[in-house]
Amino acid sequence: MEKIILTGDRPTGRLHLGHYVGSLKRRVELQNSGEYSKVYIMIADAQALTDNADHPDKIRENLIEVALDYLACGLDPAKSTLFIQSMVSELTELTFYYMNLVTVSRLQRNPTVKAEIQLRNFEASIPVGFFTYPISQAADITAFQATTVPVGEDQLPMLEQAREIVRRFNLTYGETLVEPEALLPANQICCRLPGTDGKAKMSKSLGNCIYLADTEKAVKDKVMSMFTDPNHLKVSDPGCLEGNAVFTYLDAFCRDEHFAAFLPEYGNLDELKAHYQRGGLGDVKVKKFLNAILQAELAPIRQRRAQWEKDIPQVYEILRHGSTVAQAHAAQTLAAVKKAMRIDYFGDAGLMAAHVARYQG
Ligand code: TRP
Repeated sequence: MEKIILTGDRPTGRLHLGHYVGSLKRRVELQNSGEYSKVYIMIADAQALTDNADHPDKIRENLIEVALDYLACGLDPAKSTLFIQSMVSELTELTFYYMNLVTVSRLQRNPTVKAEIQLRNFEASIPVGFFTYPISQAADITAFQATTVPVGEDQLPMLEQAREIVRRFNLTYGETLVEPEALLPANQICCRLPGTDGKAKMSKSLGNCIYLADTEKAVKDKVMSMFTDPNHLKVSDPGCLEGNAVFTYLDAFCRDEHFAAFLPEYGNLDELKAHYQRGGLGDVKVKKFLNAILQAELAPIRQRRAQWEKDIPQVYEILRHGSTVAQAHAAQTLAAVKKAMRIDYFGDAGLMAAHVARYQG
């Protein structure tokens, strides 16, 4: 079977290192692997509006930032279709039909929705659009017959819900939709990169993010003020790795060759960790090492971004063209869905003929 990728991001802010290790880096590898016949990368502006109805300009302004971040990371419009969700109206239509296959109580049990409702203090004032976004996400995925959805761990309940909708649809109306699979980051640490303050997750509202578009100096300043072990006061003190954001980042980003390049006294991360735990290794030295690694990773991204920033009309053209390509694919799926649902009144010549026969007596 043809292997197709679909994934995307809400354009509510610039993309950060959490997005990068959690999904973006992998997408670029998958795009370049040659294993997938199609790769769709969607900027989920319509989904972003489900909890930002009062802030349309925020979405509008961040759409271009996300597109630039995508291109900066190495997503290549020659290999991947980059598109805008709201440009593909078929997705909303599919959502409407899938709504009949999902119960309110099933949506209420979706752990991601539950967590987000809490996070946003919605309580009784949950917008219906927000509440139902897992259904719209199932439409995003199935519209492209996606087999593979590279996402972070937090999106697993969305995938499970999409799979249920597919099974329910196929059972009710006949085999039509493809059941997708999630593809998680290979490295567990990458599923949940903490913020620079050591808090659970990088999040714009907590101000603990390192953005892909940050300058070299901004990255360095953030790394040098990162949360480590609050009890590691003197260099000679033994240090703790648990909850130490600097070491968590090293787990996510450090490879053995980084030692040869930036810290040749150690052969690998285990040696560095052992020294830290023993005492005698200062935070500043570890932070400088992390900074060197991150700068090496981010420099090419920053350079590519700077190139694309000089050609914004071309970025708009990529999105416009990608949206046209995506729409053509989604239209095929919608036609198949409507046919399966018996609402293809004009595509079925036999239907009118049967009605003519009924009334000709
Ligand atoms: N929910 C995703 C996020 O918050 C964005 C998204 C929308 C998505 N539709 C999708 C991701 C379909 C994967 C597949 O970033």
